[in-house]
Amino acid sequence: MVRNYKVTVYTGERACSATLNSVHIKLVGTDGESDRTWLNSMMICGGSASTYDVCCTKSLGKLVLIELDKRHCYLTPDDAWFPDKVEVKSPEGNIYIFPIHCWICDRETHRFREGKALRIFDESHSLGEYARQQELIQRKANYGWEEESPGVPNCIEADGPCTLPYEVQFSFTKDTEFKFTAGAAILELELKGLEFCTENWKSLDEMKHVFSNKHTQLSDFMQDHWMDDGLFAYQFLNGVHPTLIQRCKTLPKNFPVTDDMVFIPGGSNLSNELKQGKIYLCDYKNLDGMPANIIQGIKQYLMAPLVLFHKRPDDKLMPIAIQLKQIPADDNPIFLPTDSTYDWLTAKIFVKSADFSEHQLNAHLLRTHLLAEVFAVSLLRKLPMVHPLYKLLIPHTRYTLHINELARKQLIGPTGLFTQFAASGGKGLTMILARSLSSITYRSLCIPDDIADRDLQDVPNFYYRDDGLKLWNVVYIFVQGVIKYYYKSDDEVQQDSELQTWIRNIFEHGFLSKKETGIPQSFATVSELIKFATMVIFTCSCQHAAVNNGQYDYGAWMPNTPITLQRPPPTKKGTTSELTMLQTLPPIDVTVQGIAAVWLLSRQSSDYVPLGHYPEDHFTEKTPRQLQKDFKDKLDDLSKQINERNKDLEIPYTYLDPKTIENSVAI
Ligand code: FE2
Repeated sequence: MVRNYKVTVYTGERACSATLNSVHIKLVGTDGESDRTWLNSMMICGGSASTYDVCCTKSLGKLVLIELDKRHCYLTPDDAWFPDKVEVKSPEGNIYIFPIHCWICDRETHRFREGKALRIFDESHSLGEYARQQELIQRKANYGWEEESPGVPNCIEADGPCTLPYEVQFSFTKDTEFKFTAGAAILELELKGLEFCTENWKSLDEMKHVFSNKHTQLSDFMQDHWMDDGLFAYQFLNGVHPTLIQRCKTLPKNFPVTDDMVFIPGGSNLSNELKQGKIYLCDYKNLDGMPANIIQGIKQYLMAPLVLFHKRPDDKLMPIAIQLKQIPADDNPIFLPTDSTYDWLTAKIFVKSADFSEHQLNAHLLRTHLLAEVFAVSLLRKLPMVHPLYKLLIPHTRYTLHINELARKQLIGPTGLFTQFAASGGKGLTMILARSLSSITYRSLCIPDDIADRDLQDVPNFYYRDDGLKLWNVVYIFVQGVIKYYYKSDDEVQQDSELQTWIRNIFEHGFLSKKETGIPQSFATVSELIKFATMVIFTCSCQHAAVNNGQYDYGAWMPNTPITLQRPPPTKKGTTSELTMLQTLPPIDVTVQGIAAVWLLSRQSSDYVPLGHYPEDHFTEKTPRQLQKDFKDKLDDLSKQINERNKDLEIPYTYLDPKTIENSVAI
């Protein structure tokens, strides 16, 4: 008796997702398999569903997997196909969904598992186990590790983004929109002609006239108010680098600020304010001794400053002292707001320039881009598509390998923009990255722990913390729901050998087996797994948004974020002027290249996927799908709350509004 299986093929909506090649399918079940059956590819169109019959002489039992392959016809060349999923209705009336969501480019046979998530010990059929093994063997071959530099997290083995497997490359839309060249950005910013001008700026006014295009409300505000001390301090809480400042109860020994040096309004003094927890510190010791770049034959300067802040009675944070080098000395004065205008301003400029390097290399590149890449490569190598953690995390790795390969080629490679024009480009770059990795801790990657360790729970007007903690909780509840649905006990976590291999891979390749980081080397409990997966999603989405999305807002007005400085810092007070400041700031061409870079890195692609949106249905079961919906609803609510709060702020804090957070590190 003929058994008829109804097969519906859903092809993705993305550009060029359809195929004219001949597509074949084989259904594989616990009691047998169908013949390899031809599906009429003329019906396979982008964004469509086409239904076919697959006839068998007997029931196949419970369907375990499908095999798909495509061959070109004599009239058509090989062309890639992007199926979303295949749905099969068995003669018994059971529906099986097979999520795919990847390009099929070659003529090989590709196996896809039924959508119900399975851990390795859930496999009840040898076919399932075999498919699992084969998938991981293939992935291991496609996604190799490479040691780019000693002391820095391993990265994907590739020679540029075009050599990556298709499924992790940018879509046609994103690729077309995102031409990662400074040249294009310079053209778009209408700065053409300035990129070869090696002269120094003659005045701040001259800079204002140049930047007539591409303003944001905040970039305009920065241009007008960048010298303001309150705004300088504000940026350490709510700018692009909110992860360095910490409460200071005891002054570091190498920062000998005394009571009589600093003016504390209200009759108090520094010692009292330290005791009362009203003093804060930014310490750039990570940059100490790092070699500064040589740009166009000119030696550059990169300081390792210490900055002290005071929380005033009106809750405003204000800078009260700056020392530009780590070792106190007569030629390393402690600058104060009461010094001459240009002494104090020059000291703040050196701080902001150091902050640019520390932010870009440590907070942005290492702690989001490079770690997200480690999470992505480990996931691809160690967990098969059918694993619940793969389904949970894969949307948060979208485009990460591609953007990082682009960055390695065009930003931090030998001729990259950062290498050519930033004070920390070149030799210093890998040294800073390696030192940053050795000081990374698991706690610093989890915002509740990080805020507690920096003792910043009660700092007023700290929106990065307020929004970040709320986001962490929303992500945590979602992750907890999914993980507890699949793991009912700690034993199950311990027994999941794939999961254990995955975390081990992250520990070894991402954190170079440094135990002192506190990164887990294995998972013993369900709650350990929940926390780690929350950290992965938070890092790839929220944390990246916090340190990425404001780059143009705060960096477009160059004096607020100079990417390099070309004169040494003053060694004594009273030697600065407007002229020395202009001679210290980067020249016109370097400025223009820096602005082009931050412009590129702050742009959003039209195929951007916001946090909590899952256009690809990796989960097919009711519970995780409902949890995804609840997650999205909670994020929508949080977005409304943040927008409401922002209405009352002079500078709205938008970087952690869920609507502006991308699901993955994609820019
Ligand atoms: Fe980024």
